[in-house]
Amino acid sequence: MSNEHNTTNLTVWLTGATSGIGLAVLAELVRQGHRVIATGRNRDRLNEIVAEYGNAVTPLAGDVTNPQDCRYFREQLHAMAPIDWAILNAGTCEYMDVSDFDAELVSRVVNTNIVGTARAIEAVLPVLRSSQSRECRPLLAVVGSSAWWFPFTRAEAYGASKAGLAYLAESLRADLAGEGIDVSLISPGFVRTPLTDQNDFSMPFLMEAEDAARIMVRDLTRHRPDIHFPRRFTLMLKLLACLPRSLRDRMAAAMSRNAKESNG
Ligand SMILES: NC(=O)c1ccc[n+]([C@@H]2O[C@H](COP(=O)([O-])OP(=O)(O)OC[C@H]3O[C@@H](n4cnc5c(N)ncnc54)[C@H](OP(=O)(O)O)[C@@H]3O)[C@@H](O)[C@H]2O)c1
Repeated sequence: MSNEHNTTNLTVWLTGATSGIGLAVLAELVRQGHRVIATGRNRDRLNEIVAEYGNAVTPLAGDVTNPQDCRYFREQLHAMAPIDWAILNAGTCEYMDVSDFDAELVSRVVNTNIVGTARAIEAVLPVLRSSQSRECRPLLAVVGSSAWWFPFTRAEAYGASKAGLAYLAESLRADLAGEGIDVSLISPGFVRTPLTDQNDFSMPFLMEAEDAARIMVRDLTRHRPDIHFPRRFTLMLKLLACLPRSLRDRMAAAMSRNAKESNG
């Protein structure tokens, strides 16, 4: 089993490639000379991206929550092997109004963020295993979030899904270590994308998708297991996590009250 990291001419499967962080990562990968197999549900958008980036990008349209689409992904990825990296970035966010607690909302968010990622892992893992013949360690990267490190108001569903995803990634890292497949967990703070354009609250240390993509590709190239940014935000969250539970709960409740008052 090799300890080497292949860093040139990579073939990367990227989900959520049609928008926001994923699209910026695609551009950064292509800029560095890699080949991207780009997945999203929006076929028109995928075709536009292929038209822009040419044969560095291969479209692989489909829905990560759909088992049939994921079987198709698996077949196609096998045909395009070896695959060096899989970056599982497809995700969604919906905020909860706790006065109208909505289990269906939780189900939708968990289905995309956890079940969809799990289906994508099921599709790509055998292909990553078979790709080890290139004598370098394949990399499976999961895009989580730092949002769940603090109990943010209205984030019950999103935070729960990303907390679950973090556990999934870290447990998978332990189980795959012996096989020579690395697992990176990426935990962004706020990044300007169509997803966050809908937010009606202030987003501290908001960063541009291009800057996020540069950090992600740089740290993935080093096979870093734990990638988080912007550091000023994520280190502040890590610090808050060290506070006594009662103090954290009071801060979280005060943020929730403030949000309600500013919404009238
Ligand atoms: N922006 C932030 O501040 C931030 C912070 C922390 C974590 N994140 C995470 O970063 C990831 C990307 O977010 P973003 O902000 O770039 O959002 P975005 O602009 O809305 O992009 C989401 C991407 O996911 C794809 N997608 C969603 N559901 C899918 C499904 N069922 N099957 C296949 N593709 C699907 C979308 O493509 P189609 O519509 O074409 O399917 C789109 O390409 C998400 O996992 C998000 O939770 C974002």
